[in-house]
Amino acid sequence: MRRPMVAGNWKMNGNREMAGNLISEIDRGLSVELATSVEVLVCPPYVLLESTGALCSDTPMKLGAQNLDIHESGAFTGEISGPMLLDCGCEYVIVGHSERRALFGDTDELVGIKTRAAFEKGLVPIVCVGETQEEREKGVMANVVSRQLEAVFSETQGNVFPKALVAYEPVWAIGTGLTASEAQAQEVHALIRERLSQVSAEAADSTRILYGGSVKPENAEGLFGQPDIDGGLIGGASLHAQDFIDIISAAKS
Ligand code: PGA
Repeated sequence: MRRPMVAGNWKMNGNREMAGNLISEIDRGLSVELATSVEVLVCPPYVLLESTGALCSDTPMKLGAQNLDIHESGAFTGEISGPMLLDCGCEYVIVGHSERRALFGDTDELVGIKTRAAFEKGLVPIVCVGETQEEREKGVMANVVSRQLEAVFSETQGNVFPKALVAYEPVWAIGTGLTASEAQAQEVHALIRERLSQVSAEAADSTRILYGGSVKPENAEGLFGQPDIDGGLIGGASLHAQDFIDIISAAKS
């Protein structure tokens, strides 16, 4: 039985005041029953990790980062390492988000190395994969997602799964208001699960695969009701407490 997760990716948004209000409002809406059945994660920007982690410590919410550097320490100006994230109270880290891939040069190989670096340091990676609009139109969606996963398998021998999560985030659905239909999302989630079976039967059965890309309270229940969708990675809607709570509620089985 895979426990669903709903993770909020705040991206480059927020400040300490906003984080304080948001965390306390979400906490008020999280009943014990809801928090028991759904794992809830927030991923604020680096500079808010420590203060948000302190706010989360009396709540069921867990803390994750949005990225990490592959090195442990040293002369890498502006970068943040896995051990630093652990020191701030992070349990999870998003790796290979499409914005990192498109804007900051995260190649398939680097995403694989980041996944390994995170896991080796004791963080749980949430590995993002997904195709662009153009790739979907060309009919190469399956090749792209498989290639992105293969790079992670080859850097890690796949042994990060089933502990690590995969997030399927079709790039054309991120922040655009467009969402994959339930059938489109389920098709790719099933493909990802099939690829995970190359690693092991346990990886295929137990790895949680999140859907991301314009998840809203209105579409969450239908998406999360699909057999291979185990929750969501939420961008815009995670900045609004009531929307985020409604999305968490939709993940409750
Ligand atoms: P969105 O972002 O929910 O705003 O589309 C999702 C993501 O990028 O993780």
